[in-house]
Parts: sequence; C-alpha cells; structure tokens
Amino acid sequence: MNPMNIYPHDTVVPFKNSTESKKKQVESMFDKIAFRYDFLNRFLSAGIDVGWRKKAIRELISLHPKNILDVATGTGDFAITSYEILKPEKITGIDISEGMLDIGRKKIAKSGLENSIELLRGDSEAILFPDNSFEAVTVAFGVRNFENLEQGLSEIKRVLKPGGKLIVLECTKPSLPVIKQLYHFYMKFITPKIGKIIAKNNAAYQYLNDSVLQFPEKESFIHILNQSGYRSSFYKTLTLGICTIYCAEK
Ligand SMILES: C[S@@+](CC[C@H](N)C(=O)[O-])C[C@H]1O[C@@H](n2cnc3c(N)ncnc32)[C@H](O)[C@@H]1O
Repeated sequence: MNPMNIYPHDTVVPFKNSTESKKKQVESMFDKIAFRYDFLNRFLSAGIDVGWRKKAIRELISLHPKNILDVATGTGDFAITSYEILKPEKITGIDISEGMLDIGRKKIAKSGLENSIELLRGDSEAILFPDNSFEAVTVAFGVRNFENLEQGLSEIKRVLKPGGKLIVLECTKPSLPVIKQLYHFYMKFITPKIGKIIAKNNAAYQYLNDSVLQFPEKESFIHILNQSGYRSSFYKTLTLGICTIYCAEK
C-alpha cells in the first residue's frame, strides 16, 4: 500500500491471495472479464446505468467542452455517450486494461467514431498528457479501482484547464432501511453468482461488492476532492442512492 494513501479502500483487491499490486490485479481482472463486461453491466443494473451515464454527462452541457479525457474508459461506453450528447471535437479515453480497450475500439469503429474518439493505454495515476490539456475529464465507475485515489485525482486536476470540470460517476450504498438490506443482499449473494455464471469470474463481482462497501462516498468523497484542490464540488444521488454523480472544478 502506498503510504501517501490514507484511505483504506486500496486494501480491497480483486484476488485476496495475490501478492501483486492492486493496479496489476485490477488490470488482469478487467482483461479477464472484458468479453462479458458490457453485457453484465446492462444485466446487473437492469439497464439503468445507461440513464445514469446520460445524466452525468449532461452536467457538462453548459461548458461546451472541445477536448474531453475519459479516464478508466474501459470499453468506451462513457466516451461514446459523451460524444453523442456533447459532440466535442475530440474525446480521448485512457485505461490500463488492453482487454477492455480492444472491445472499446471495436465498438467505436462499428459506430464510425474513430476520428472523434481515441482509446489509449494509460494510467490515471501518471497521465500521459501535459498540464491544462482538457476542458473536461470524466470517470465512470473508475475511481473506486484506482490504487492511489489522491494521486489519480491530482493527476486529473493537473491535465484539466483552469475552470475545467471533472465528472465522476460511482456506485454508492443506499441509506433507506429496507432498500439498504435488499441492496446488500443483491450485492453480496446475487451479483457474485451471476458474475461466476456469465463472466466465469466470481472474484471480480465479489470485488465489486467489497470495493463499493469500503469506498469513501458522498460527503467523504467531496472532502477528498476538496483536499485535492478542486472547488465548487457537489454531488447528486441517483436511483435510491445506489449511484452518485460528483462534479468539481479546477
Ligand atoms: C468498472 S470499469 C469502468 C469502465 C467504464 N468507464 C464504464 O463506465 O463502463 C473500471 C475501469 O477502470 C480501469 N482502471 C482501473 N485503474 C485504472 C488506472 N489506474 N488507470 C486507468 N484505468 C484504470 C479498469 O481497467 C477498468 O477498465
């Protein structure tokens, strides 16, 4: 564990007996499940994630960003939605998993968007672009997987232009009593079983549950954003609090 990282979430790793770093484990886990990732996303969220993505991207409409960086882009869904809503000049997606990127590149080619969306292998904790490069940065379901959250947020801030916006979409835990119990049952027992059957990998979907449980959310995540130097940070919860949009400015 990085001694600079004071939050306990980076102790949650996909493969509990592995001696590899969280980053290496996350990369190989996503490489393994990439072939079923999109299907499972739609299936496990009953398609609701599509609406969450659109709502999050709409937070950027008034900014009219020309250049957008989609961090932890995976199979490119957030980048594609972003292009459809915002029509920027260019979207660059970065991710550490080549398996996820391969699927994303095929989807982008199929949609004829190769000139507008480019996917590159890249680490959010050492972003391969100069300071002040993008008007907006987006991260959907990615920050929870960073090995060093603060390092990732500080790198994102570095590449944002002054006045630029960060949009984070992330899974959160509901707080309403009955919903809370149903949610925990679903995440603890149903999700890993479905992950095992469909993606042949229950560790990945067990990790989904464990990482959501431990990740700092809502006010705690806003506090981390502010500590990382962002301003005007706020959040909006979606669908009974099981997902949250965070917005912040450089
Ligand atoms: C749950 S997926 C989200 C993918 C996509 N953003 C979406 O909305 O479907 C998380 C992604 O984060 C990527 N990831 C994790 N740590 C990363 C890092 N340090 N830098 C870049 N990508 C990272 C993983 O490889 C994976 O593709």
